[in-house]
Amino acid sequence: MECVDDFRLRLGRQELVPIVIGGMGVDISTSDLALVAARLGGVGHISDAMVPTIADRRYNTKYVKDKLRQYKYNVANDDKSDVQFDLARLAEATEMHVRHTMEAKRGAGLILINCMEKLTMNAPKETLRVRLRSALDAGIDGITLAAGLHLGSFALMEDHPRFRDARLGIIVSSLRALQLFLKKSVRTRRLPDYVVVEGPLAGGHLGFGMDWANYDLAAIFAEIQAWLRAEQLEIPLIPAGGIFTGGDATSFLAHGAAAVQVATRFTVARECGLPDDIKQEYFKADEDDIEVNGISPTGYPMRMLKNSPAIGDGIRPNCEAYGYLLDARGRCQYIDAWNREAAAHPGAKKIRVWDKTCLCTQMRNFDLWTCGHTAYRLKDTSRRLDDGSFRLLAAEHIFNDYRYSKGDAIALPPA
Ligand SMILES: Cc1cc2nc3c(=O)[nH]c(=O)nc-3n(C[C@H](O)[C@H](O)[C@H](O)COP(=O)(O)O)c2cc1C
Repeated sequence: MECVDDFRLRLGRQELVPIVIGGMGVDISTSDLALVAARLGGVGHISDAMVPTIADRRYNTKYVKDKLRQYKYNVANDDKSDVQFDLARLAEATEMHVRHTMEAKRGAGLILINCMEKLTMNAPKETLRVRLRSALDAGIDGITLAAGLHLGSFALMEDHPRFRDARLGIIVSSLRALQLFLKKSVRTRRLPDYVVVEGPLAGGHLGFGMDWANYDLAAIFAEIQAWLRAEQLEIPLIPAGGIFTGGDATSFLAHGAAAVQVATRFTVARECGLPDDIKQEYFKADEDDIEVNGISPTGYPMRMLKNSPAIGDGIRPNCEAYGYLLDARGRCQYIDAWNREAAAHPGAKKIRVWDKTCLCTQMRNFDLWTCGHTAYRLKDTSRRLDDGSFRLLAAEHIFNDYRYSKGDAIALPPA
């Protein structure tokens, strides 16, 4: 019987272990997690979501405090169009995060940055350009364009000296999305180096509507694969979403996948950025405890644990400190929802908002517990300790389980 290690991901002249740990914002896929994947010859991701906030936490900067001080006068104002990101500081924070990570990199693998394009940051094009280019400046191995796929992203980098040598990939959930992207970027005379095909069982935001359950990763993968063949385009395809065991991964590789992208299994790794008590929530989850809902102000459905404190919380919008979801006119769906509830409950000490969430604050505080559909199986991947909690796993253990386990087998950590 074959296993993942019988296959290799070929990107240009490089041969890699065909396991990609997907980007998980905000700082859930940490540098430490990505570094393990690279050391073991695979591919890791850091995330560029809310990097100034991550920099404050990890490198002792004061970006958030400074931004809040600058815009404090606007806190009570519904109109957030004044609240702009300082592009030089955004570049500085991104470079800092990428450089720290790349300097620590050992081994033959790659470290990519997941660029969540749906973060419109009150100036979508300008901020995205800075995020992409500063990651390249700081030496990232490559960029995966995700959530909200901005069709003009290649053009924002095309005059960058690394545009043709860095690995650039995209995440799509349909053939149509891929076709649109290729059509739009044909002018840059550059194909993506890889395409992640993300199905409906993934964590984070979904590229499907609330009818996500009608779609199937293997079917979408096969459709895209057939189209690429017919067009004689050779782009490595990387399926993602619900690939839980080495056997699941091997089956995709045997059907022509170049690699697999996985994430949920790593949410309970010691190197993952979630606080340890929250990792226990992931371990404990049953299938009924997971839902896909519409509370993300991005407008995309998102999968999460139902007991996430973010659900129904009514925290005041914190755009002066964060503001990553503000659109080009300084609007965010959460601001509207919060204003509506505040007006309906005048004088209330605490209000509840159920239909939308303040994604920035909740993700920053690790109060929105997004996960893949298979999170309810995490309890089968570890051992219970005497106090009833589950033992956290080394990322290397999970990586090697994907790499070497066959069939339905899942390697438990040593007793
Ligand atoms: C906790 C968590 C956070 C995620 N955050 C992001 C993100 O910020 N951007 C993104 O493109 N994908 C995100 N994803 C999706 C993963 O990168 C990956 O493609 C997908 O979850 C793989 O499926 P699996 O979790 O079933 O293995 C996230 C997934 C999880 C579990």
